[in-house]
Amino acid sequence: MVLQLVNHILLLSCLIIAAVSEAPMAKENCQERCGNITVPFPFGIGKGCYIDEWFEVVCVNGNNSANPVPVLKRVNMELLRINLYGYLDAKFPITFWNCSDRKTQLQNIPNLQGSPFVFSYDDSMFTSVGCGATAVISTEGQDGSIQVAGCSSSCTSWCQTSIPTNLQAFNISFLDKEFGISEKADCRYAFLVNQTWLSEPSVGNLSSLYEMTDVPVVLKWGLNSSNPPCMKPGTYYGNESLGHICRCEDGFDGNPYLPNGCQGKPF
Ligand SMILES: *[C@@H]1O[C@H](CO)[C@@H](O)[C@H](O)[C@H]1NC(C)=O
Ligand SMILES: *[C@@H]1O[C@H](CO)[C@@H](O)[C@H](O)[C@H]1NC(C)=O
Ligand SMILES: *[C@@H]1O[C@H](CO)[C@@H](O)[C@H](O)[C@H]1NC(C)=O
Ligand SMILES: *[C@@H]1O[C@H](CO)[C@@H](O)[C@H](O)[C@H]1NC(C)=O
Ligand SMILES: *[C@@H]1O[C@H](CO)[C@@H](O)[C@H](O)[C@H]1NC(C)=O
Ligand SMILES: *[C@@H]1O[C@H](CO)[C@@H](O)[C@H](O)[C@H]1NC(C)=O
Ligand SMILES: *[C@@H]1O[C@H](CO)[C@@H](O)[C@H](O)[C@H]1NC(C)=O
Ligand SMILES: *[C@@H]1O[C@H](CO)[C@@H](O)[C@H](O)[C@H]1NC(C)=O
Repeated sequence: MVLQLVNHILLLSCLIIAAVSEAPMAKENCQERCGNITVPFPFGIGKGCYIDEWFEVVCVNGNNSANPVPVLKRVNMELLRINLYGYLDAKFPITFWNCSDRKTQLQNIPNLQGSPFVFSYDDSMFTSVGCGATAVISTEGQDGSIQVAGCSSSCTSWCQTSIPTNLQAFNISFLDKEFGISEKADCRYAFLVNQTWLSEPSVGNLSSLYEMTDVPVVLKWGLNSSNPPCMKPGTYYGNESLGHICRCEDGFDGNPYLPNGCQGKPF
């Protein structure tokens, strides 16, 4: 009798654990993953699965191919990770200039204008590499003023500068003779990058960076008042220029953007 009771309790706790680990991240009847990347609502794959078209993700190559690639469709950026609390990691293309085996493409930079996304000021740094290279980003403010940020790198190390807040679109350019900083103008390149990632030992040195075509960048996202408020028992969290972010209340876990998305933790 006692043994049976223990058995029941064990079974019950297993069931609870199973239910929690399967708390859905995507909307009902929607594909939850593209390869090994989870795509949680308000993002989604397929019609009716995302909150609005800015959050539409396309699983390029198909989920069952050898190389499924999740792309945030309207801004055309490849996703590396989606964080439910207002962040995502995406690939940012490196801008090369006058590098023998790399194309110079100064206009190739993702444009987030009009979207609920900004390049994250807190996590992303503008980084430039090249001997005596001065690289700048320039962006037009809402009042038409031009904001500029830049730095000069040396032959042995890159340079970095922080980016304007709420940055959504910008141009990269390299300044040379005009500023008298550099005599010769050989290979240089620049990008926005997740600073934590760049500091990891596994990322390596300048020459290993040169072998890459993209680096991870951090974007912030949010929902505005035209999107539905957080579902109970989710709560409002944060109120930035981008909009609101939801969170599950203490003791609950799951996806606060789905009806009944937050579920009780087992213990
Ligand atoms: C997509 O692929 C992943 C990894 O192979 C798999 O876990 C997942 O179930 C697949 N999803 C769909 C909808 O096919
Ligand atoms: C996802 O898969 C890719 C290779 O397909 C791998 O490089 C990457 O580390 C994986 N990411 C995670 C979080 O497992
Ligand atoms: C980038 O440069 C192009 C061409 O000069 C210009 O039309 C565009 O407004 C610039 N974009 C930004 C965000 O400054
Ligand atoms: C490009 O770099 C080469 C050296 O690699 C240099 O001779 C050339 O002047 C540079 N081009 C420009 C436009 O600066
Ligand atoms: C930045 O990169 C680090 C290391 O790869 C990762 O752990 C972190 O989640 C990223 N930051 C953000 C805000 O996504
Ligand atoms: C840079 O890293 C690569 C790969 O990790 C290594 O082969 C190379 O020797 C390193 N170069 C320098 C200058 O440290
Ligand atoms: C709310 O955000 C969406 C994008 O997510 C945008 O299309 C819409 O115009 C925004 N509405 C308002 C009132 O700002
Ligand atoms: C968020 O900020 C907006 C504009 O500043 C304000 O109207 C709104 O009441 C705030 N919402 C919350 C939940 O604090």
